[in-house]
Amino acid sequence: MRDFTFYAPTEIIFGAHAEETAAEAVKKYGGTRVLVIYGGQSAVKSGLLKRVEKSLSAAGLTVKTLGGVQPNPTLSFARKGVLSAIASQADFILAVGGGSVIDTAKAVAIGAAEPHRDIWDYWLGKAPVRQALPVGCVLTISAAGSETSDSAVLTDDARKDKRGINTPFNRPRFALMNPELTFTLSPKQIACGVTDILMHTLDRYFTPMQGNELTDALAEALLRTVIHYGPLAVQKPTDYHAQSELMWAGSLSHNNLTGLGAEKEFAVHQLGHELSGRFGVAHGESLSAVWKAWALYVYKEDPARFARYACNVWHVETITDADTAARKGIENTAQFFASLGMPTSLPELLGRPLSFEELYELADKCSRGGKRTVSKLKPLAKEDLLRIYTAANQ
Ligand code: NZQ
Ligand code: ZN
Repeated sequence: MRDFTFYAPTEIIFGAHAEETAAEAVKKYGGTRVLVIYGGQSAVKSGLLKRVEKSLSAAGLTVKTLGGVQPNPTLSFARKGVLSAIASQADFILAVGGGSVIDTAKAVAIGAAEPHRDIWDYWLGKAPVRQALPVGCVLTISAAGSETSDSAVLTDDARKDKRGINTPFNRPRFALMNPELTFTLSPKQIACGVTDILMHTLDRYFTPMQGNELTDALAEALLRTVIHYGPLAVQKPTDYHAQSELMWAGSLSHNNLTGLGAEKEFAVHQLGHELSGRFGVAHGESLSAVWKAWALYVYKEDPARFARYACNVWHVETITDADTAARKGIENTAQFFASLGMPTSLPELLGRPLSFEELYELADKCSRGGKRTVSKLKPLAKEDLLRIYTAANQ
């Protein structure tokens, strides 16, 4: 096991009615003037936004709202949010929504704390994040794990570049997690969330690290749980038990618990971000579309690890040889995504195969013009990324 620091400071209030504690939680973390950020329509339609707003005002807090965050949230909207936070002298940002809303709230919190600097500088690595306003969230979809993660992902809408940053300043102070708030999700959104939750652990599990037993066992338990409850939630979005298992798994899958003591990988996420940035597809489906092509490309680096995954997660029993078991585990995973209605190739994702030029552009961007490799299990240079995108294009 490698040395590690585990820092997961977000206070989690979990269960039915969790959102009713919003005012108390904001006050506990020093908020007096709150900018509430939300998405398109779901929080308005369900009445959640009104309820939260009312409870904040009733507790004597000054409240301003900013709606309109789109999935794959944009830099231009986040900049607008920074101006709004400054104009209202907000000292607390409350996100009501999913990963897109929470990531926008994180960006606004960083931007409003240092108004003289353009927020994209941080995403481009031109400046370190040194401060941020406190952020809290009312979670409405189990997926991105942003409610406890140290990351925030934005898309530069002018250049179609999707980028994330990791900083401890991105950790929300609290996450209010009521599984009932996810009952209004469509089966497609739930399936995208299930895929993303799995991928946050899969992208950590397949690492060169050996002998990391507790972390591996936690990861495998999380994967089995999501594989069991994911389809139940897709079939019946009002299944409280299934939705609560997914909600808790979503947070634990991305607060670093399932990757402690190992190097961070995230190759599939990097491949997927280029697809969302270029084509605007949902995050979860960008991942399922390339996972099998990635896995088949890299598993020979460590067939025993892929065989362990097949055995402990998919109950592949008769292991004649590691290679066969590894391939069976990969196939089962792809079939699971397909059973949820998720795409497992680029033509399924986009409705057409991509041209060579398009594939090349994706690989070029993902490798930052050939200047970086992705992953430690098998460092993937531009030509490797191109081969993976090409395999996913079949
Ligand atoms: O905008 P509204 O109307 O609210 O609709 C949203 C949106 O269309 C809808 N929705 C959310 N809660 C709902 C609901 N509809 C009905 N009932 C509810 N209760 O769901 C759609 C998707 O929402 P979004 O916030 O985009 O989903 P998700 O949580 O999957 O977030 C995806 C974003 O997070 C990033 C992704 O790249 C993507 O941009 N990620 C952020 C991470 C992080 N910060 O740690 C890690 C992830 O790997 C990921 O990259
Ligand atoms: Zn993700």
